[in-house]
Amino acid sequence: MQIITEPSQMQAIAEKLRLNRQCIGVVMTMGALHEGHLSLVKLAQQTAGTLILTIFVNPTQFGLNEDLHKYPRPFDKDVALAKAAGVDYLFAPEADAIYTKHYQTTVECSEVTKVFEGEKRPGHFKGVATIVTKLFNITKPHIAVFGEKDAQQLAVIRRVVEDLNLDIKIIGAPIVREQNGLAVSSRNIYLSTEERDAATILYNSIGHAEKRLAEHDHNLAAIAEEITLMINATTGCRSDYTGFVDETTFEPVKTAETGKEYRLLLAMYSGTIRLIDNAKIIA
Ligand code: PAJ
Repeated sequence: MQIITEPSQMQAIAEKLRLNRQCIGVVMTMGALHEGHLSLVKLAQQTAGTLILTIFVNPTQFGLNEDLHKYPRPFDKDVALAKAAGVDYLFAPEADAIYTKHYQTTVECSEVTKVFEGEKRPGHFKGVATIVTKLFNITKPHIAVFGEKDAQQLAVIRRVVEDLNLDIKIIGAPIVREQNGLAVSSRNIYLSTEERDAATILYNSIGHAEKRLAEHDHNLAAIAEEITLMINATTGCRSDYTGFVDETTFEPVKTAETGKEYRLLLAMYSGTIRLIDNAKIIA
């Protein structure tokens, strides 16, 4: 596995791979690699002959009072995990190589970013859309795999790719969960045992929504309200948002139509740790 830090060197390698008719796959991460990230690598390797993994803690997607400086950076461990997973190239640039001195151009997706995660974290998706576009231009992939764990991020990236005519196939990968249902996340290490146990309410909420829809209750607004109450009634937990969106347009929906697909979006705090989760729900 080759480790690359310079964007121009990564571009030169990607260009050569393309000339050699290699199918390039990319998986983008902020490091602190876990099973969720590695499942994306595995999925990409099913299609791509060459796998590029990027590790970059992107400063522009963090809010002022978010955990940019606290974000875990276990680089040596990540290198070992990437090697063991059969990654061909690890692209891990420094921030000033990506955001150079006179940098002033951004990518902004206007509608999908207005609700839920976008509403709670102003500027977050502008940072994501910009870095993902930059990393596409640096790694020149044919395919890219992103996790459904960040469902709204995936929706934003699909929009950017379609709206800007990027010739890249985007593949969504299912959420990897711990045995208790908690979605695997780099932030889970910050949870105490009690907070971790309490956080299972997030996964249980998905089960509750599925049960209510199976009972033919199509009032999604009322189901979201029930889930908010369930979360807030759990010791140490506070709901940040609960809602349903149309699976294709990502527009918020209050009433379900039989047979249609929706996505339940959840964010909550267990103690001070903010967790997100989601699930596809069929009415
Ligand atoms: P990060 O949080 O490191 O996640 C990298 C990728 O792994 C994303 O596509 C995310 O959805 C996926 N992922 C994380 N946990 C997962 C899980 N439990 N199951 C399946 N997939 C999971 O998302 C980002 O970084 C950044 O915003 C990035 C896209 C790299 C841009 O900076």
